[in-house]
Amino acid sequence: MKKLLSLVLLATTISGLAQNEPDDFLKSEFHAERRTLVRDKMPDNSVAVFFAAPVRNRANDVDFIYHQDPNFYYLTGYREPHAVLMIFKEEQEGPDSNYDEIIFVQPRNAMAEMWTGRRLGITGVKEKLEFNQVFNNTEFEGYNIDFAKFDKVLFYDFFNDVRDTRAEGDLYDLIKSFKQKAGYPSEGDLRIESAANNLDMETLDQIMKDLRGIKTPEEIELLRKAVDISCIGQAEVMKAMKPGMSEREVQGIHEFVFKKYQAEYEGYPSIVGAGNNGCILHYVENHQPEIKSDKMILMDLGAEYHGYTADVTRTIPIDGKFSKEEKAIYDLVYKAQNEAIKAAKPGVNIGRDLDAAIARKIINEGLVELGIIESGDQRHLYFPHGLGHHIGLDVHDKGNYDQLEAGMVITIEPGIYIPEGAACDEKWWGIAVRIEDCILITEDGNELLSDLAPRKSDEIEKLMKQPSPLDSFVLPELGSDDKGE
Ligand code: GLY
Ligand code: MN
Ligand code: MN
Repeated sequence: MKKLLSLVLLATTISGLAQNEPDDFLKSEFHAERRTLVRDKMPDNSVAVFFAAPVRNRANDVDFIYHQDPNFYYLTGYREPHAVLMIFKEEQEGPDSNYDEIIFVQPRNAMAEMWTGRRLGITGVKEKLEFNQVFNNTEFEGYNIDFAKFDKVLFYDFFNDVRDTRAEGDLYDLIKSFKQKAGYPSEGDLRIESAANNLDMETLDQIMKDLRGIKTPEEIELLRKAVDISCIGQAEVMKAMKPGMSEREVQGIHEFVFKKYQAEYEGYPSIVGAGNNGCILHYVENHQPEIKSDKMILMDLGAEYHGYTADVTRTIPIDGKFSKEEKAIYDLVYKAQNEAIKAAKPGVNIGRDLDAAIARKIINEGLVELGIIESGDQRHLYFPHGLGHHIGLDVHDKGNYDQLEAGMVITIEPGIYIPEGAACDEKWWGIAVRIEDCILITEDGNELLSDLAPRKSDEIEKLMKQPSPLDSFVLPELGSDDKGE
């Protein structure tokens, strides 16, 4: 008993400590306002149900670092798993007072908190996140709600990656209870026929796209930090780069800079591909041990700062000097990107007006001029991806693509990738260039957010001549007696 008491006391003390967190997270007012805007956009007599992201297992008893579902974070600020949020269009009658939103969260648990970290619990969610109706997730099963009374029950359909942690009230239980209460078809049923006819798995996504696609000043502030951090990482690598470095080492320098600036994570797995590896668009192995001096390296990395991620790519010559062929391809990608950036403003369409009419056209004409393709309308795979996308809480963020609007933050990222064995002169083989920048659409044009990392070929060569603090960072050979003193 005494032992149990001291455990409880210890855990209470741990969670009672000031958490020493940075103070520039989004504020509870931001999240509350977002919920109001969701409510405004919901159809009459509807409820929207959002679930926290699952805890994902890495192997055996080790989980991946928890990352909240971006919609859930946007609407709550809650960064713990096993929670469900309901937003009601109209006020609901409660025993004590009426309410139009309710959240079920992880209960406090001294033992669990000692192992895996602090929980806000009901009191913390009330105080820090400013919800009024807060319950433990274990109470959701008994929560009396008649989903049939709503014209629409809005939610995202479920993907099958939720494990039963065996803890009462975990996400597995929350989803199971919701499915039972709402009349979601059980496995094997023909879904359309057996689902309650008020279940709506489409509308919510459009509501979230409309909201999340236009960034508020607070979100732009965080995105600026994420992008600046990522660009400083790129610039530091430019100074530190030398032949013989490994792809992983380059990745490490970027990620060290991210952490130095308090970015919690990478917004997506870092892509660091030298030479032909750069032709794999989402190459994340980063395992080439020693990069030869005649190669370029493509580095696509984004720091995630308080939930918001950058997405910045630079491609640089390992030895600090672009060869003739590298420069020809690089400058062509640069021209395509620069013209597209100049034209990005409210009212234009990324796919039609920026990608097809500008960037792809410039790249195709350039490839013809260089003799890599025969004609501008030849089908090829040298620029196999789209020109850009929204960034925000997701690297490929929710947002609309019909027309750019002020407040959108998007990437502009043309590329040319010529793999070994491509149907062109082999002097081009293994050249892969992507230049990716982040821009904020303004009332009359755009602002380049990622200007801390040079992107013109001559500016890159100039920066690469500068010394780096890492020049003197020499580690002992593994297996030797050298202690590096
Ligand atoms: N980093 C992924 C992308 O550029 O879309
Ligand atoms: Mn991108
Ligand atoms: Mn990218």
